[in-house]
Amino acid sequence: MPVEFLGIAYTNNSSETTARSGPSFDKDYTLKLARAHEDHGWDRVLFAYGSDTPIPTPAAAWLAAKVERLQILLAHRPNVSYPTYAARSFATLDHISDGRLTIHFITGGNDHEQRREGDTLTKDQRYSRTEEYIQIVKKVWTSKEPFDHEGEHYRFYDYVSDVFPVQRPRPGVSFGGSSPAAYAAGGAEADIYCLWGEPLADTAQQIESVWAAARAAGRTDRPRIQAAFRPIIAPTEELAWEKAHRTVEAIKARRATRRPPRGHAPEGPENTGAQRLIAIAARGERFDRALWTPTSAATGGEGNSNALVGTPETVAKALLDYYDLGVDIISARGYDLLGDAIDFGRYVIPIVREEVAKRDREGAERGPHLLEKIVAGI
Ligand SMILES: Cc1cc2nc3c(=O)[nH]c(=O)nc-3n(C[C@H](O)[C@H](O)[C@H](O)COP(=O)(O)O)c2cc1C
Repeated sequence: MPVEFLGIAYTNNSSETTARSGPSFDKDYTLKLARAHEDHGWDRVLFAYGSDTPIPTPAAAWLAAKVERLQILLAHRPNVSYPTYAARSFATLDHISDGRLTIHFITGGNDHEQRREGDTLTKDQRYSRTEEYIQIVKKVWTSKEPFDHEGEHYRFYDYVSDVFPVQRPRPGVSFGGSSPAAYAAGGAEADIYCLWGEPLADTAQQIESVWAAARAAGRTDRPRIQAAFRPIIAPTEELAWEKAHRTVEAIKARRATRRPPRGHAPEGPENTGAQRLIAIAARGERFDRALWTPTSAATGGEGNSNALVGTPETVAKALLDYYDLGVDIISARGYDLLGDAIDFGRYVIPIVREEVAKRDREGAERGPHLLEKIVAGI
């Protein structure tokens, strides 16, 4: 199966190491970053969602009209709109983008952040709402007949849309989370299940949990797996490691001048995914071929934060280990968003694509059951 690459559609030039130099929605930068992805072999970019960020849906619509090939992964939190409205908004955006849209449904891993926009449910209740929400969105996208819905979180009657997505039967559904409630909801509804980059053994365990949840939900297919990393590449191993250490110092320096990230509980993150990253960083700094955890430790396990460090060849080999394990989609974002999107696209993506094509031609076996063999080969 061909591998896919997801980059980031950021609306300004800030990162964990760099303060932004322009407005929060910097149109010139947003377009430049997206074009850098489009021109350097990436498949898709993620518009993330935060309670204070520019709203991703109109930003994605604007961008979709400016780039030709790049696909869009739109993050969406169910608490901010009604599912029938959201489904039509996505269908409209699928038209604007000529069928280049996938939706990433965000349940929310932090109570404080959710409450900012009026969401007072607990995390497990939120997962139950997300599951119902996705079911409704799928039905609105595909139902030509009016229908009623009486669920735990939503009730409405005699609904039928008059705008259907370009993609048939419907756009893809992406989902993230690492708690049991997340596996259950995403295992049942997701086409793409997103994980943050962890050591191979931990990733194998998560893939198995997601696929087991899909089986338990009665599915005969299973979600494709996406894993996310922060690549730190340079022409030699030595230069890459120097860059990695400089990056961590820059993260620490920037955090020292800022207030603690808003909404983060002093006792640490509430979401299981981030707790896992912190526990992994406590186990060690280096894992497998190139995984490096100090970037994650320095940010307190803040989302996609584990690095892959080395030459493009080393990082490509590390990514191929994940491909062999069952990962179909690589999400990658450097600490210098623009420069790293170009370098990764130019030097890493072609190697991985070529090696994946070779494996596919040879009909190579893949999956988490190969963990021991993959680790032994490192
Ligand atoms: C690849 C990926 C991207 C995510 N993007 C966002 C985002 O843009 N905004 C957000 O609030 N949460 C985002 N999340 C967080 C998840 O949707 C989810 O709320 C959180 O991981 C749930 O925590 P859990 O691990 O305890 O289940 C993302 C998660 C993943 C894995």
